[in-house]
Amino acid sequence: MKHLLSTSDLSREDAIRILDTAEQMAATQEREIRKLPTLRGKTVVNLFFEDSTRTRISFEAAAKRLSADVINFSAKGSSVSKGESLKDTALTLQAMGADAVVIRHWASGAAERLAGSGWMHGAVLNAGDGTHQHPTQALLDAYTMRKHLIGAAEGPGAHVETATGNDLAGLTIGLVGDVLHSRVARSNVALLNTLGAKVVLISPPTLVPVGIETWPVDVVHGLDAALDKYDLDAIMMLRVQRERMSGGGNSFFPSPQEYTRLFGLDGDRMRRLPDHAIVMHPGPMNRGLEITAEAADSPRSVIVEQVSNGVAVRMASLYLLLAGEEGGA
Ligand code: NCD
Repeated sequence: MKHLLSTSDLSREDAIRILDTAEQMAATQEREIRKLPTLRGKTVVNLFFEDSTRTRISFEAAAKRLSADVINFSAKGSSVSKGESLKDTALTLQAMGADAVVIRHWASGAAERLAGSGWMHGAVLNAGDGTHQHPTQALLDAYTMRKHLIGAAEGPGAHVETATGNDLAGLTIGLVGDVLHSRVARSNVALLNTLGAKVVLISPPTLVPVGIETWPVDVVHGLDAALDKYDLDAIMMLRVQRERMSGGGNSFFPSPQEYTRLFGLDGDRMRRLPDHAIVMHPGPMNRGLEITAEAADSPRSVIVEQVSNGVAVRMASLYLLLAGEEGGA
């Protein structure tokens, strides 16, 4: 594996390798000295054309804990805002000796373009491209599910009977809300399918992509209907992505109140989930729109833990791409 561009490029073995490596990385983070010498001398550039807090900080923390040098390059206030093209930016990064570029871009396909261009030789990690893909988010989500839901459900009355392996077979995962604009949803659908989980998309018809029939998912147009029909092991609330909607969302649903009434996760709906089920959200949350404070802050919410798992998954990804061929942990 030279780049990490899309979860649809990952085989089951690739994905499990990343998750297993992330587990080892997480274990090193329990130690008193958390810094590993693994990527000493390597340079990782965070190239962000779109606003981001947690993803950028998470990649930065991951690279630093592996002792890489990190350069943060945000397009705002840089020569990109003076009209510099992706190509010229890439040539600059190559000249600076970037071993890996973590790119977030508003255009779908930007990460693939950078990786396939020959403009630079380093590894490319996609940190979100338009509405297309966000592979490390799906990997940290899978990591979080594996940790909470696999192997933990043994014994009498266990809900998840088949979920004892190292993938996610036997689990049913609900993704709720703005699937249309969500690279998190697309990345998760592909990865969850590869890892053997069943995926239920719970979304208004206006926020479901064209061609959804060809996706390996069930689609339900109401959260109450979905809670009646499925025993969800995890429910992942998606952010309503108003910045990607013309008119701020009003053309996709009648009003925020209406959206919340049909698709919002509140305490009552949360209590209808199986006892072991976890509540997830990639962040940033619109509290009061897709999720209430009661659900977001409840003991079964793993939303904050998703953030810390993100560092371990990104350490694993950087390690496998940059140190992998040299072998040795
Ligand atoms: C997601 C993203 O940027 O795609 N957030 C993130 O990476 N933490 C989801 C979102 O913005 O809704």
